[in-house]
Amino acid sequence: MKIKDRVHYVGVNDRNKSLFEGLWPLPYGVSYNSYLIEDEKIALVDTVEVGYFEIFLEKIKRIIGDKPIDYLIINHMEPDHSGSISLLKQQYPNIVLVGNKQTFAMVEGYYGVTGENHMVADGDTLSLGHHNLRFYLTPMVHWPETMMTYDETERLLFSGDGFGCFGALNGGIIDSTMNTDVYWDEMVRYYSNIVGKYGSPVQKALAKLSHLPFDAICSTHGPVWTGENICKVIDIYNKLSLYEAEEGVVIAFGSMYGHTEQMAEVIAEALCEEGIKNVFIRNVSKTNHSYVLEDIFRYKGLIIGSPTYNGQIFPDVESLLSKVAGRDMKGRYLGYFGSYCWACASVKRIGDFNEKLKFEVVGNPIEMRYALKEDTYKMCRELGKAMADRLKADRAN
Ligand code: FEO
Repeated sequence: MKIKDRVHYVGVNDRNKSLFEGLWPLPYGVSYNSYLIEDEKIALVDTVEVGYFEIFLEKIKRIIGDKPIDYLIINHMEPDHSGSISLLKQQYPNIVLVGNKQTFAMVEGYYGVTGENHMVADGDTLSLGHHNLRFYLTPMVHWPETMMTYDETERLLFSGDGFGCFGALNGGIIDSTMNTDVYWDEMVRYYSNIVGKYGSPVQKALAKLSHLPFDAICSTHGPVWTGENICKVIDIYNKLSLYEAEEGVVIAFGSMYGHTEQMAEVIAEALCEEGIKNVFIRNVSKTNHSYVLEDIFRYKGLIIGSPTYNGQIFPDVESLLSKVAGRDMKGRYLGYFGSYCWACASVKRIGDFNEKLKFEVVGNPIEMRYALKEDTYKMCRELGKAMADRLKADRAN
């Protein structure tokens, strides 16, 4: 499992975890990538989730035998990558931890590990002999301590979560040795779920790295990216972090007895008749929000539907709206609608919620009492048409 002659992959695959971070489904699993650089000094880049330590250690020993590891480079402290630090330190008591000024308090706080550390600042270098490593601090991609490590000798970027994706690896490590189809959608979902809030830090990181030539991007999740895929991966992260979106509409609704869902259907029909092809209706009580967020990151239009429930927005809809707000999403067009029996609250509350979201409201919000009738049918058609017109107005730009 070589990335380059003296650079080895020693990561592991997790096909057992149901929810990443306790929240996000993993239908294809996830990989925790770690890399071993064999040189006069031996360096390990990141570790793996603690449950995989034995497999991880076996992989390391298969390459270096009983030789010690000189450095552990800690690009990121989230436990999917730092979880094995304590056990690794027990195996290699003299290993020097390499991190920045944000890193070591986390190491001690999580694992009680202290000892010899090597603190680096932005742009600092570390020579392993033949390989020269340079460190770039990239805070909030995805935690405050995150940094990326660039192997100037081999032109490899060890990018932490940056450029990562969900999906375990199926034998191959480097993209050119595998069918990568599944990873592209899983990259958008990973970004929207995990890194989505940090568009501005991702942009700063991209600017910082823009002068570097890459032979490969070695992130902590998913394939090692090479060749033309390097530009593709950077382009995906660039667009997502700018909150750029394609023409299309996500209609995300909750519904107790189907009345709000019927409104969603009518709105969607109008959108399609007006020439909008990417229209996706999502029942937010059924479809995991992980996937709805992916859709919302992908498409420019968002239409939210909610019945009034206990005088509030339907709980699953409110939960989705909180997730959207938590990602500081920008530049979406918003329509909204809802149904009620005796007192409507949800529609007004979605409008109130938009004071946080600051999305451009398109069309008239619709409050439907009881069930769909001719007047509300027409209003739903009008909302669909208004959204379609707003999207089509962008085509000329
Ligand atoms: Fe894969 Fe932010 O950890």
